[in-house]
Amino acid sequence: MDIKLVLENATKEIQECSSQTSLQDIKVAYLGKKGKITELLKSLKTLSIEEKKSKGAEINLIKEEVELFIKQKLSEIKIKEINSKLSSESIDITFPIPNSAEAKVHPISRTFDEVISIFGSMGYQIAEGPDIETDFYNFTALNIPEHHPAREMQDTFYLDHKDDNNLPLVLRTHTSPVQIRTMINQKPPFKIIAPGRTYRCDSDATHSPMFHQVEGLFINESANMSALKGTLIQFCKQFFEIQNLRVRFRPSYFPFTEPSAEMDIAYSIKNNQLQIGEGDKWLEILGCGMVNPIVLDNCNVDSSKYQGFAFGMGLDRITMLKHGLTDIRSFFSGNLNWTLKNGFGLGDY
Ligand code: PHE
Repeated sequence: MDIKLVLENATKEIQECSSQTSLQDIKVAYLGKKGKITELLKSLKTLSIEEKKSKGAEINLIKEEVELFIKQKLSEIKIKEINSKLSSESIDITFPIPNSAEAKVHPISRTFDEVISIFGSMGYQIAEGPDIETDFYNFTALNIPEHHPAREMQDTFYLDHKDDNNLPLVLRTHTSPVQIRTMINQKPPFKIIAPGRTYRCDSDATHSPMFHQVEGLFINESANMSALKGTLIQFCKQFFEIQNLRVRFRPSYFPFTEPSAEMDIAYSIKNNQLQIGEGDKWLEILGCGMVNPIVLDNCNVDSSKYQGFAFGMGLDRITMLKHGLTDIRSFFSGNLNWTLKNGFGLGDY
């Protein structure tokens, strides 16, 4: 068999080949146990030593060349396959929603609207702060000093970037830094809510690494614990649209409030469906308390004159309770069918 011809044929076949399986066939046909090049090498044994040397070298060179061609072709085919997969799976974001489906408002957005409207009717103004916070606003000013165990309790996401004090920036672990920003930048009295995104390194059916809270801050010369309880109970009755909602306040601890409490809502699960207001299971929805005078002092608010309360409520949790959803992660799955089923249309407003 002509060695040159073998190389020519192999090269041509490899060039024309367009799939991994046919490339594999070519590889077997030339380099396999009974392949053409293998046969050529086997035929050497009938030759003289001199001829073996020269022909052997020639055949081996061709073998290497064919192996290299196959390798190059394989990566070329793989890239082509990936590109065609990518283009066939790409999503055309300019394409209209199928079946003229009505656009829906996400349940969390709906909760934002409702929370703002209920607290708005009680006279609360909206305040905002950044998602990326400094150590001072997220911890220190809230009476959580460095090495305080409360920092570990919060499963903080730290960023590589450092702030002016050479401390790493953080994704805010709660909306409480907005309390500090408000008190430092404005004059008392304060009556604000701060809804927004918060972040903790945690994930299961009731925890998501990105979640939502609404912070509340009410500071004047007389606000007290019973006003705090009244406000929160009133909010829950309106939000859940249940007049005799079962709730409980449990004593708790936060470095930035004293005394502190947590509020739970009663619920039960019937036929895999969550029902609120009744039952003997409790879901914690918020932390609250009287603002610690140390925090007021940190913000240059005169703690001998002013006092008040703060609360931080999990918006994803109250959305799950209100709409009977059992997995927080479904909110952030980006699944259009889920949103169409669980979202709200214009008729719901
Ligand atoms: N920041 C607390 C948390 O995320 C909640 C809270 C806010 C508690 C305000 C008390 C007062 O757990």
